[in-house]
Amino acid sequence: MKHEELKKLDQETILGTYARSDVSIVWGSGAVCRSEDGKRYIDFTSGIGVNALGYCDPQWAEAVGRQAATLQHTSNLYYTEPCALLAKRLTERTGLSKVFFCNSGAEANEGAIKAARKYALEKRGIERPEIITLENSFHGRTMATVSATGQNAFHKFFAPFLEGFVYVPADDAEKLRAAVTENTCAVIIETVQGEGGVVALGEAFVREIAAICAERDILFIVDEVQTGIGRTGKFFAYEYFGVKPDIVTAAKALGGGLPIGAILFGEKCDAALGPGEHGSTFGGNPVACAGGLVILDRIDEAFLSEVRRKAARITDALARMPAVNSVSGLGLMIGVALEGRDAKKTVAACAERGLLILTAKDRLRLLPPLNIGEEETEEGLSILRSALE
Ligand SMILES: Cc1ncc(COP(=O)(O)O)c(C=O)c1O
Repeated sequence: MKHEELKKLDQETILGTYARSDVSIVWGSGAVCRSEDGKRYIDFTSGIGVNALGYCDPQWAEAVGRQAATLQHTSNLYYTEPCALLAKRLTERTGLSKVFFCNSGAEANEGAIKAARKYALEKRGIERPEIITLENSFHGRTMATVSATGQNAFHKFFAPFLEGFVYVPADDAEKLRAAVTENTCAVIIETVQGEGGVVALGEAFVREIAAICAERDILFIVDEVQTGIGRTGKFFAYEYFGVKPDIVTAAKALGGGLPIGAILFGEKCDAALGPGEHGSTFGGNPVACAGGLVILDRIDEAFLSEVRRKAARITDALARMPAVNSVSGLGLMIGVALEGRDAKKTVAACAERGLLILTAKDRLRLLPPLNIGEEETEEGLSILRSALE
């Protein structure tokens, strides 16, 4: 279908919740994609941190295709191998002990919130549990996760919100300590606030949260939906901070391009949810898990070290570009604060020149595929430089 025809159809039929760019993408390979009119783009977005191995990685596509032709779905009333194997890989990798699979980041956080509430009720007799969350955070679009999200912009229109969330400023350990009550059941953080502008938390603050949680039998939940699965140069970003969460949520890159989410539980709380207390029709879908197995196979220590090397190269190049005020983030999750330039207009100028990038608040956000090659990296950076000049 021609772009203009597709655009018209989309606008007539799809709910207008996304401000789409004026591009129809029809094909992709690695870090490159093409629009309907044949224009080539370097993609520094990875479908917002999903396509860890870029578009249509051959090993990933083969595994997914093979699983789709063998057993595409059955219910969670039966055992399936890809789901159990993926859980095994995740627990081996993290030392956490149990996994619940769902389909998205919001769903993973939603399940973590339920688990924390039930753990607090059963273990500590807390009937009106509170979860401490950070200002400027983002945890999803469902009612519970939008309530957990510490940004007013997401709190318009949808009241009443879920009770039991307490917001404290990021990097303020004193305020966090003061916010803890006998009803506090969990603290949830992103170690790098992605939608909040790609802002990494301070190491001392994250360690302090872990210490407070351990002291008071409060569950420490780390939302690794955007930071996880190698994006920051560690398998999970919390590894940089020397802490061990009780619950980790993941999604986005875990399936390499198919919908999947996961809640990883540490031993302390891995029995919090029992039979009939949580579920998902599609959670643990064999095709999504077959994709996930390839992702976990490929993202080994050597791969992660390459991610860190690429991140250093890109960050260094960005810092030297015109109109760049500062570069933030961790690994290949990169934010760029501009001086005298509008981030949205810069994104449009880049697209015009054949580079796809994102924004996060008033910053540029770069989430290139983790295995991006040198040539595409340099090409993308040179387009960005020319758009800023
Ligand atoms: C940190 C974080 N948590 C949760 C979510 C929600 O994930 P999903 O869109 O898969 O529901 C996002 C999405 O951007 C995210 O960045």
